[in-house]
Amino acid sequence: MIDYSVVPSPCYVLEEKRLVRNLEILNRVQREGKAKVICALKGFSFWNVFPLVAEYLNGATASSLNETLLAKEMGREVHVCAPAYRANEIEQILSCASHITFNSFSQWNLFKKETLKKGISPGIRINPEFSTVEVDLYNPAGRYSRLGVTKAEFKPEFLEGIEGLHFHALCEQNADALEAVLEKIEANFGEWISKMKWMNFGGGHHITRADYDVEKLISILNNFHKKYPGIEIILEPGEAVGWQTGELVSSVLDIVHNEIDIAILDISVSAHMPDCLEMPYRPMVMGSDLPSVKAHTYRLAGNSCLAGDIAGDYSFDEPLHPGSKIIFMDMIHYTMVKTTFFNGVKHPSIGVWKADGFHLLKEFDYEQFRGKLS
Ligand SMILES: Cc1ncc(COP(=O)(O)O)c(C=O)c1O
Repeated sequence: MIDYSVVPSPCYVLEEKRLVRNLEILNRVQREGKAKVICALKGFSFWNVFPLVAEYLNGATASSLNETLLAKEMGREVHVCAPAYRANEIEQILSCASHITFNSFSQWNLFKKETLKKGISPGIRINPEFSTVEVDLYNPAGRYSRLGVTKAEFKPEFLEGIEGLHFHALCEQNADALEAVLEKIEANFGEWISKMKWMNFGGGHHITRADYDVEKLISILNNFHKKYPGIEIILEPGEAVGWQTGELVSSVLDIVHNEIDIAILDISVSAHMPDCLEMPYRPMVMGSDLPSVKAHTYRLAGNSCLAGDIAGDYSFDEPLHPGSKIIFMDMIHYTMVKTTFFNGVKHPSIGVWKADGFHLLKEFDYEQFRGKLS
């Protein structure tokens, strides 16, 4: 259990023990579902703990040259899947990758020769045109989606050399959603599946969430193996790797009053928890409740100029003061990866909590802020 009193503010802190718990669940899926699980770096890029991740998972999946280079540092398989590759980066990507997925036949045809020359296993991303994701921003299979080849655009005449099919159509979902998408995939692309060496079921599987039906996932994977023997299944969750592994520790700088009490924190919701505004969602805060449930209610707000830089309204047992710690729960996946230096607000440090206590890994200063600008 993290002792937050020794964690500086602001700071993202990951608890290693909780990561191991997630990795053990994912490893069970690998073992019992005879699948490879790789870590989607877009959702979890906490590279300090890559050696631990590599003990359990088969590698990582990258969506850019930068992520490809980071994936290579994990020392296991490097899968790459991006909407489009740049001609001046493909060589470097291919020199790191074990698998590469193309989002269109035009990109495949453009880079086919180099891919085959390097002996990298190529795949094509397909779009099931079906998904149960409710938020458009996070639905890769909605109408007009650019992500993956639809049935109408699928060109079997260009399949020569392609070894895998890739789909990604879930977001924070349970095994029943995968079952429904898989049915659609089989209906639209079934005849090509058995011609492949591998099939990538993408991410969005919330495998490490308490109510996720791991048994059902394992049974879906085993049924697929029975139907399509010899085809390797790959799952590439990001969020499920970092799910509930750590917090963003912040503290109150000032309390202002404008009809309501507003606590100004030493972080920015916009810069350091962007998903809360994008999705949007209300982050959980340790020891808090909904407004007016506990004795003291505050609006928790960020330290930027953005009027909407607000986490939400929360109530606490005790009044807040400058210096009070506010701990935002579950801030290690996506959040940490998507931060910005907006307004120059001090970027939270990064730390890890191990069996022997807190380790500060990184602090951000003026040089990093300035270095991003010109
Ligand atoms: C192609 C692909 N694979 C994997 C993932 C990881 O998804 P998640 O972090 O929801 O598991 C994403 C997320 O956008 C993705 O686009």
